[in-house]
Amino acid sequence: MVLSMDRWVGKVAVVTGASSGIGAAIAEALAKEGLQVAALARRKNRLEDLAQRLSNQKGEIFPIQVDVSKETDILSAFTWIKNNLGPIYILINNAGISPPSSGILDGQVDSWEMLYKVNVLGLCICTREAIKDMKENKVNGHIVHVNSVVGQQVVKLPHMNLYPSSKFAVTALAETLRLELMNQGSKIKITSVSPGLTDTEFLNSPEFKKVIKGNKILEPQNIADAVVYILSTPPHVQVQELIVRAVN
Ligand SMILES: NC(=O)c1ccc[n+]([C@@H]2O[C@H](COP(=O)([O-])OP(=O)(O)OC[C@H]3O[C@@H](n4cnc5c(N)ncnc54)[C@H](OP(=O)(O)O)[C@@H]3O)[C@@H](O)[C@H]2O)c1
Repeated sequence: MVLSMDRWVGKVAVVTGASSGIGAAIAEALAKEGLQVAALARRKNRLEDLAQRLSNQKGEIFPIQVDVSKETDILSAFTWIKNNLGPIYILINNAGISPPSSGILDGQVDSWEMLYKVNVLGLCICTREAIKDMKENKVNGHIVHVNSVVGQQVVKLPHMNLYPSSKFAVTALAETLRLELMNQGSKIKITSVSPGLTDTEFLNSPEFKKVIKGNKILEPQNIADAVVYILSTPPHVQVQELIVRAVN
């Protein structure tokens, strides 16, 4: 067995959107593996509850209030991490939204802009800052984008609006980053993990509840397990894309 999380123990991981759902499960899994987890989201009370609940684990959760649609927030968070926690080894770009009122036929530009700011631009800014830090510290780290099955194929689901297009962008951004890093001879790894329907606040609407009814869907823990697997691979192994769906 060559899978191991040993090289990450005590190291810093940044998880965006760590206040609920998949991000909270990933932050928890990484803290249990012994990492120092900078947990980013807007709802600081949720992050503090998570930190409190996991306070007796091998690693630790550090709550940081950040709105990833604001570059200034992201930059302040990365400065705080650099000054207080040390070099970044892992970035999990998980924060994501799908505002219900942002359809192509009747959506508002404000809503479209917010979708792209969170799902695409926030992810790019966090990636840029994390890689800058990794390079400064000669760290061969790992970036994981939490993408979606609708980043591979548009399907008929409620509130799809511009959301799939933002996740198609994540698919392209992951591959572009892989090529940019490869051209520079960098050993930093990039993985896109694409969950199918997962039981989180994301699916809270009555329309989604109707679609899910009677069907098996994933638990956030299933995606956290996938992320731990991705991070456990040896340095020369790159899981480029991982699609995880429930069996029905
Ligand atoms: N659930 C699914 O079926 C599913 C399937 C495929 C992919 N995904 C993807 O999985 C990721 C996590 O979603 P989830 O299902 O776990 O949903 P969720 O429970 O609603 O979590 C979304 C997370 O993103 C954070 N977030 C939203 N806007 C933010 C902002 N402006 N700044 C900082 N953080 C922000 C939220 O924190 P705050 O509100 O506290 O800021 C929350 O922690 C998303 O990228 C989503 O697209 C979900």
